[in-house]
Amino acid sequence: MAKCTIDGREIEFSPGQNLIEVAAKAGVEIPYFCYHPGLTVVAQCRMCAVEVEKMPKLQTACSTAATEGMVVKTKSDRVKQNQKSVMEFLLINHPLDCPICDKSGECDLQDQSYKYGDPYMRYTEERRTFLDLDMGPVIKKNMNRCIHCTRCIRFGEEVAGIHEMVAVSRGNNTEITTIDGRPLETDYAGNYADICPTGSLTLKDFRFKKRAWMLKKTPTVCEGCSRGCNMEIHHEMNVIYRCIARTNMEVNKHWICDEGRFNYHYTVDEDRIVEPVLKAAAPKESVQWAQAIEKAKASLAGKKVTVLVGSDLTLEEGKQLLEFLPKHLPGASVFHFGTPGIKTSSEDAPADKILKRKSKTSNLHGLEKLGYKPFEKLADGTQAVLMIRGGRATLPQLNGVEVIAIGVYNAADVGNYGVVLPGASFAEKTGTIVNFEGREQRINRAINPPGQSKQLSEILMMWMHGTSATGAA
Ligand code: SF4
Ligand code: SF4
Ligand code: FES
Repeated sequence: MAKCTIDGREIEFSPGQNLIEVAAKAGVEIPYFCYHPGLTVVAQCRMCAVEVEKMPKLQTACSTAATEGMVVKTKSDRVKQNQKSVMEFLLINHPLDCPICDKSGECDLQDQSYKYGDPYMRYTEERRTFLDLDMGPVIKKNMNRCIHCTRCIRFGEEVAGIHEMVAVSRGNNTEITTIDGRPLETDYAGNYADICPTGSLTLKDFRFKKRAWMLKKTPTVCEGCSRGCNMEIHHEMNVIYRCIARTNMEVNKHWICDEGRFNYHYTVDEDRIVEPVLKAAAPKESVQWAQAIEKAKASLAGKKVTVLVGSDLTLEEGKQLLEFLPKHLPGASVFHFGTPGIKTSSEDAPADKILKRKSKTSNLHGLEKLGYKPFEKLADGTQAVLMIRGGRATLPQLNGVEVIAIGVYNAADVGNYGVVLPGASFAEKTGTIVNFEGREQRINRAINPPGQSKQLSEILMMWMHGTSATGAA
């Protein structure tokens, strides 16, 4: 393998890797702003400039590919002086409003001014300011904080496939904005906030809710469709504050769609049923777990039952049900459901040119692997349905039959279902889902199920052995 030397250390690299990537492999940090591994290289900010032997001028590490025998210095006096100068230049117009900025604590500009900048500034002139136009429901714009790295412009053009961000005017008056001041149109707008290295583009959904350094981060996988984009849930004290993209070059690269990013809201919907309920239509009656399970069992006993399993359940839950159902509901027919019009994985297809898939549940492919068949319609003579879902599967229309429900439901979903046993959403459990390519991925529990809600395994255990098996009332 080819080798170069960075700060006196010999480092192996693959052809085409730039100096930022090669240095990072060896734990050497080269600061940068405009470079992003998912976007084209423009070498605009000059923050990454390093000394390369035999080259008279500093070279931008983002646009310089490593070559065999190359000798690079990232910490020489010339490099440090350049970093100080760039930081001074970038901060000339910056409002330094870190105490009220949502990016604070995870801001590249803040971190790098601390590490590489000079505490003294010579600039005494008035700073320029911009009026901030509305950019639609996802992004809050604050151009006083912008450093013109153009990551957002490149993201729109190269990833979202829409040229909606532009730089207008030039020099000191340069402003990043949308064409004609229109709201953002892409369904991937949240990524603008992820990639902006300053607080110029922040998520409205997250604005002023929590300081970034207080958040705990749980790696998981989006359940919004059969792609299975990798993401992080950011939470504190059992409350989810946001979801952001997690890089997986083979699944979603660096991006997630807005639907997946904001999907977590259903888990905190105030109408979510979080206590066992009998006859959920108003007036709903919440009861103890023991009573609800007895009622559910009695409602299904001796009847011709169909079990409908949401393709948003994990592989583990699907397997457990396949063991549980023949023993405890013998003779019941079992089918999966999830997305209207997409009954099998052969009907699943891309829903756009970026990431989204037509199957709006996370584990259609996994349940098929376990042998579940798609639901078409209730067989004649069906007297009761046991419906089990993880949270997003679209409920089939069922008329004239008693329904007992396990899982995540809203009051509006359940009409006059006989019993609802509240379950855990994707953010509240751990398990495996299989994406459209057959890739098994792990979802991780970030928070506890709310109220009296429980994991499916606990509910089945109570069904089999009584509520004392889990300590529930
Ligand atoms: S808004 Fe953010 S991403 Fe866009 S150019 Fe300014 S600093 Fe860069
Ligand atoms: S493309 Fe699908 S899996 Fe990816 S973030 Fe969007 S909804 Fe989630
Ligand atoms: S990161 Fe290299 S010039 Fe901006």
